[in-house]
Amino acid sequence: MAELNKGDEPMDATPNVSEVDASGAAATESAAVEAIEAPVERGEPILQVRNLVKHFPLTQGIVLKRQIGAVKAVDGISFDLYQGETLGIVGESGCGKSTVAKLLMLLEKATAGEVYYKGQDITRLSGRALKAVRRNIQMVFQDPYTSLNPRMTVGDIIGEPYEIHPEAAPKGDRRRKVQDLLDVVGLNPEYINRYPHQFSGGQRQRIGIARGLALNPEIIICDEPVSALDVSVQAQVINLMEKLQDEFNLSYLFIAHDLSIVRHISDRVGVMYLGKMAEIGTDQQIYDHPTHPYTQALLSAVPVPDPEAREGRERIILTGDVPSPANPPSGCRFRTRCWKAQDKCSTEVPLLAVPERFKGADTPAAHESACHFAEEKDVVHAA
Ligand SMILES: Nc1ncnc2c1ncn2[C@@H]1O[C@H](COP(=O)(O)OP(=O)(O)OP(=O)(O)O)[C@@H](O)[C@H]1O
Ligand code: SF4
Ligand SMILES: [Mg+2]
Repeated sequence: MAELNKGDEPMDATPNVSEVDASGAAATESAAVEAIEAPVERGEPILQVRNLVKHFPLTQGIVLKRQIGAVKAVDGISFDLYQGETLGIVGESGCGKSTVAKLLMLLEKATAGEVYYKGQDITRLSGRALKAVRRNIQMVFQDPYTSLNPRMTVGDIIGEPYEIHPEAAPKGDRRRKVQDLLDVVGLNPEYINRYPHQFSGGQRQRIGIARGLALNPEIIICDEPVSALDVSVQAQVINLMEKLQDEFNLSYLFIAHDLSIVRHISDRVGVMYLGKMAEIGTDQQIYDHPTHPYTQALLSAVPVPDPEAREGRERIILTGDVPSPANPPSGCRFRTRCWKAQDKCSTEVPLLAVPERFKGADTPAAHESACHFAEEKDVVHAA
């Protein structure tokens, strides 16, 4: 990707999202937790997500509301985020990515499950303890147009977290801190009194990142942080995020639709489908050795510019729509669209685990995949 060019972005950033979706099938419950194996070379996990569930109630009636069901937005997800790594999360629209982000940010209350931050379950915290944890987990949002208050100056926007956490910067020191942050994200510190509309899309996303950094967090949850940006600007913002990660030893959870961007920035990648994690592994395992049929279908749909690489590639066309999360299929959630589905797939939920056939084998296919019939398939890889 192109090197970051400080401050030279085009002034109008056209929304341009690469609509490559991802998802995968089921995985669940306590067995999934046991199945999570720390990659050998990694340090301590900073976040451990265990059987996380978020069901939004579906109600009927205007005066006397009664619950008639639930949207199972996130339905038993487990994964680890390691110190200093980037974990990419891909999944098609509505599969639950933003809900996971909100649960980790404690903006939504989990229906069930735990989120351990340095070993402490933060879903049960309140008051001061909760506030202290919140300082360490910050978020960068998708749309820099709507996530910044147009009536506030950039200085006030970036410095706002200090109002909630005054201990992070004494009042007299805040202006200097905000100017330092502007400098860190590649913006002129003299812009401190400008308003969001005076910046380009990429510059606005830099402001969002500066705000995310204000409290010196350890984890940043990035929900589609570059999806609304022009392709050329995406590269600059990604470069900046990578630079900041090294500088501040940040751990990123990076949610996106674009498989190529996720591969570029991520150390590991998780593929979600209908509220579940289908497959998770290193970027090489997922992109070059996917074993879950859904991941394979997604990768086969990525446009490949090289005609030689295109030749002989198998294109997997998925049929049918994504089922409703209010009424997901039994067994494997992907079965209604899976070309390999068998009887077992409708009765048994496949757990997210290293497939039996690959256990102990020295192969990149030996990573967690929630499929009863997980196997490698030669699909063309996203660059
Ligand atoms: N507050 C809510 N009340 C009811 N249903 C909700 C709520 N928030 C999300 N959902 C539903 O939960 C499911 C997951 O939504 P979520 O926003 O997490 O998906 P997503 O993967 O982030 O999608 P996108 O890629 O479009 O951003 C969707 O079916 C959505 O309609
Ligand atoms: S083969 Fe069965 S378990 Fe595997 S993804 Fe397809 S439907 Fe799910
Ligand atoms: Mg979302």
